[in-house]
Amino acid sequence: MASPLAGLPEELAGHQAGPGAPGPVLPDGPGYPRIVQAWLWLKKPTWYLDRCARAYGDVFSMRLPFGVNLVHIASPELVKAVFGGDSDVLRAGEANATILEPLVGPHSVLVLDGPEHLRQRKLILPAFHGDRMRAWEATVRDITRAEIARWPAGKPFALRPSMQAITLDVIVRVVFGVEVAERRDELRRHIRTVTGLGRNPLLLFATRDRRLGPHAPWARFIRARDALDAALTAEIRRRRAVPGLGQRGDVLSQLLLARDDEGRAMTDDEVRDELVTLLFAGHETTATSLAWAFDLLLHHPRALGRLVAELDRGGSEYLDATITETLRVRPVVALVDRHVRQAVRIGGHTIPAGAMACPNIYLAQRRADLYPDPAAFRPDRFTGQPPPAFGWFPFGGGIRRCLGASFATFEMRIIIPEVLRAVTLRPASPRPARIRREAVTFVPHDGARCVMTARRQRGVES
Ligand code: HEM
Repeated sequence: MASPLAGLPEELAGHQAGPGAPGPVLPDGPGYPRIVQAWLWLKKPTWYLDRCARAYGDVFSMRLPFGVNLVHIASPELVKAVFGGDSDVLRAGEANATILEPLVGPHSVLVLDGPEHLRQRKLILPAFHGDRMRAWEATVRDITRAEIARWPAGKPFALRPSMQAITLDVIVRVVFGVEVAERRDELRRHIRTVTGLGRNPLLLFATRDRRLGPHAPWARFIRARDALDAALTAEIRRRRAVPGLGQRGDVLSQLLLARDDEGRAMTDDEVRDELVTLLFAGHETTATSLAWAFDLLLHHPRALGRLVAELDRGGSEYLDATITETLRVRPVVALVDRHVRQAVRIGGHTIPAGAMACPNIYLAQRRADLYPDPAAFRPDRFTGQPPPAFGWFPFGGGIRRCLGASFATFEMRIIIPEVLRAVTLRPASPRPARIRREAVTFVPHDGARCVMTARRQRGVES
C-alpha cells in the first residue's frame, strides 16, 4: 500500500515560500470576533476544535486576541512538512518563549532555537539513556507503593493528584537526585506553590505588569519562582562539591559532568533552567497521562481485565498498546506550535510571517481515516501494530521531539502495573471523565475519581 506521505513536494513543504508561491494569507477559519474565539478555545477546546475541523478540514486558522493567529494542521503529510521544515523559519523556541520563558528561564532548551537549542539538547539527552533509566526502576516502584499505601479504602478519591505526587517524587529523586528528606520536602513545597499559581490561566493572558501590586497573581508567581530558583541553585552548588559524580545515576549529576563539542560545561544558570524545564515539562504531563490511562481502563472493564490477565502472566504487549492508545485518544498536550518567521509554504497554503503553525495532536490522532471509531478507547488497535507515522505524535516531532518521551513511557510502564497488581479499583462515576483544559494541558475534569475496593495479596502490605 502506498504511504500516505508519498508525493509530498518536499522542496516546497515547510520551507520559505519561493517567488512562484501564492501570496501569504491565513487559511480559512471561523469569523467570530477574536475575544469569542479565545473564550471558546479556553473553555470548550475540544468542542471548538472538532467543530472547526468539520467546517474547514485539515488546515484552518483560529484568530485570538493580541494578533495571535494559530494555524491548526491535522493531516499527517502536512504535519510531516512542519516537523521536517526549516527550523530557522519555523521557530519552536520563540513560540514556547511567549508563555514559558518566565517560568523556565532564558537558557531552557524549550525556549531556544538554532545552534543554542541543539547544544542544550545534546547536553541533556545522554542523561536519559535507557541503561541509566533502568537503574531508577526500583526507586519508581518504591515511590508508587508508598503512595498506594495512602489510598483510602471504600471512599472516592481523585487519582490525578496521587499520580502528581508520584511523578513529582520521581523528579526530585531521580532527576534532581536529592537524598536528604528535609531538602526534598523543601523543594516539593516550592514546586507545588509555583505549579498552583501557574494553573491560573490569568497568568497566560493577563498583563504581566508588576504595578498591579504585590498580591496580583503575577507578582506572587514571580516570588514563588525566585524561591524555587534559589533552592535549586543551592542544590547545584552543593552537588558540584560532591566527589565521584560519575558514580551517581541522577540527571543533575550527569548535567554537571556533560561537555559540549567545544568541551565547555554548563553554567549554574543553564543547569538550573534545564532542571526547571525537566520538572515542568515532565511532571504534570506524565501524571495526567497516567490519570487518563486509569480513567479509561476503569471505564472499559474488558480492556482492564485483559491487561490484568496479561500482567499476571508476565506479559507487556497489551500494556504498551494501552499506553499508546491512551496517549492517542487523550493527548495531554493538544498541539505544538512553531512561530513562522518568514512566509512559509505548507501544502497548498502560504502561511504569513507572524502566525503560529500548529501540528494539532488532538485532531490528527482522531482522524477517522487512520483510526476507525476514532473517539473509542481500543488498545488492540496497537497490538502488534505500530502507530502511523505523523498520525500519532503525542510527544511532538522533528528536532523538538520531547526529550523525556522514553522516560515518560518508562514511568508509565512501571506505575500502571504496580497499581493494578496492588489494588482493585472501580470508577467513582459511570461515565469517563470529560476533557477539561488546565493552562496548556488537557486533563480529566474530575481528576479521574475512583474507589479502591480491595488490596490484592501481592504488593503494598510490606
Ligand atoms: C506523557 C508525558 C509527556 C508528554 C505527553 C510530553 C509532550 C511533549 C511535547 C508535545 C513537547 C513539544 C515537542 C515539539 O515541540 O515538537 C515536549 C517537549 C519537551 N518535553 Fe515532554 N512530554 C512528556 C513528558 C516529559 C518528561 C518526563 C520530560 C523530562 C523529564 C519531558 C521533557 C521535555 C523537554 C525538555 C521538551 C523540549 C524539547 C525541545 O524543545 O527540544 N517531557 N514534550
